[in-house]
This record gives sequence, structure tokens and C-alpha cells, in this order.
Amino acid sequence: MQAERLASIGFLAAGVAHEINNPLGYVNSNLHTLADYMNALLRIVEAYEQAVPTSDAASGPFARVVALRNELDLGFIKEDIGPMLSESKEGISRVKQIVQALRDFSGVDAIRASKEADISQAIETTISLLANELRHCDVRNDIGELPRVECVPAELGRVFMSLLLNAAQAVETHGVVRIRGGHDSDQVWVEIADSGKGIAPEVLPHIFDPFFTTKPLGKGTGLGLSIAHGLVSMHRGRIEVASELGRGARFTVYLPVLRGQAVSS
Ligand SMILES: Nc1ncnc2c1ncn2[C@@H]1O[C@H](COP(=O)(O)OP(=O)(O)OP(=O)(O)O)[C@@H](O)[C@H]1O
Ligand SMILES: [Mg+2]
Repeated sequence: MQAERLASIGFLAAGVAHEINNPLGYVNSNLHTLADYMNALLRIVEAYEQAVPTSDAASGPFARVVALRNELDLGFIKEDIGPMLSESKEGISRVKQIVQALRDFSGVDAIRASKEADISQAIETTISLLANELRHCDVRNDIGELPRVECVPAELGRVFMSLLLNAAQAVETHGVVRIRGGHDSDQVWVEIADSGKGIAPEVLPHIFDPFFTTKPLGKGTGLGLSIAHGLVSMHRGRIEVASELGRGARFTVYLPVLRGQAVSS
């Protein structure tokens, strides 16, 4: 549950960071240019000031300059501009740090280290992590031996976690969750089937949409399958689903057995 929740928050964090990054970029750049312009303007004002007679007894066009200078408190503005600009620059750099922290958390910048991994092992680990969520289910793990797959193991773990969690949640009181696997020369497949409540035909086309959920408020975010779909696509695989209302659901993940190729995003 925790891993699933973190994955969802990560997805959101990456989105928010991405949205903030663009305006942040030009506000930051404009602020630096503005500071330069302000210095230039202040130097010009300085030169004007020297040209204006110092006494309040100025006459002609100078009278208006002197009056405005006093009215608008030029001395204070000149003093205040510097600290104000540097405070703003500091504020922006703090926002930049926060956005970077969000990106770090979401893992968007992480190096996706792919390696050859044992899918059966990943399933085994995920089942034991979800022992509590699956305790009302009769879990039949018939995955057997599979060829090793070049993948980012943590990402596939997250996919199986989402599918198994959905299966557990679909089985309301008691039921079966069955895991099977198979392969041919170029792909491996993993099937997760449950005897839960199934998916209505009008719901089926939406289940991979981000934020689509039929679960009560606070129970599901509707991100599990959309993240799983994204991660499987990054592995050049696909997820298929078959279900009937009241007759359980079957999700099948197909993954290519990559040879000597890096998994790229
Ligand atoms: N095994 C399943 N049996 C029945 N319905 C399912 C199953 N898997 C997914 N669904 C349906 O698909 C919807 C979307 O699933 P998804 O995993 O994306 O979100 P969620 O489980 O509702 O929320 P989250 O995964 O973010 O906690 C679910 O709300 C449910 O209606
Ligand atoms: Mg889910």
C-alpha cells in the first residue's frame, strides 16, 4: 500500500515539478535582467541628480524634479531596491530547490539502471510484501521458471504490485488470485487473475486512465494502472485485460526478452 501510494505521489510530484519549472525559468531569468536594468537606471538617476541643483530653491524644470524627488522619497527607493531584488532572487532559488527535491523524489531524473532480472523472483517478493493485503485470498503462484528479462527490476516490481493489489481489492470476502507465466522465443508473459467482482464493460475502456477509479473516496487514487501501463510501455511491453462483471479479471503483462539492449525511457 505504502509503495503504491508513494508511486502515486511520485507521479503527481513529477507533474507539479514539471509545471512549475517553466514559469520558474523565465521569472528567474527576468529577475536577473531586471536587476541589471535597475542598476543602469540608478546610475542614470545618479547622473541626473548631480545635474540638479541641490538646494530646494531650484527653479524652472528643476523645481518639478526636486518636488517629485521629495514626494516619492527617492532616497528610500534607492536604498530599498537592492535588498528587495536580492530577497526575490533568494526566494526564487528556494523554489528551485523545492522543485528539484520533488524531481528527486519522483525519480524522473534517476538513472534507470536496467539489468537482467528474474521475473519469478520479482513476483515472489511482491507477494510477500503484500501478504497482509492478500490474506483473504487463496494465492496460487504457478509462475514457474521464466527466461531472464532485461528490465528495471524496481519498476516491474511496481507494476506487479499494482496488479496484485487491484486483484486483492477486487476479491471482497474470499477468493482466488492466480499467477501464471509463460514465454516464447522473444517474449515473456505474466498473468494475474482474480475471482473478484470483475469489471463492467462500460468501465473497461477507462481503467488505464490516470485518476480513473471506482473505489470510494480516499481508497483509490486511480493511478495504479496508469503508472503500470507507463512502466510496461517503457519496457516495450504491453498489458492486456479480460474481464466480465462478477466473474473476475485477468491482466496479462507481455515483456520482450531483450538481448544486449538497454531499456530506454
Ligand atoms: N482486478 C480488478 N478487478 C476489478 N476491477 C479492477 C481490477 N483492476 C482494476 N480495476 C478497476 O480499474 C480501476 C482503476 O484501477 P487503478 O489501479 O488504476 O486505480 P485504483 O486501484 O482505483 O486506485 P489506486 O491503484 O491508485 O489505489 C479500479 O478502480 C477498478 O474499477
Ligand atoms: Mg489500483
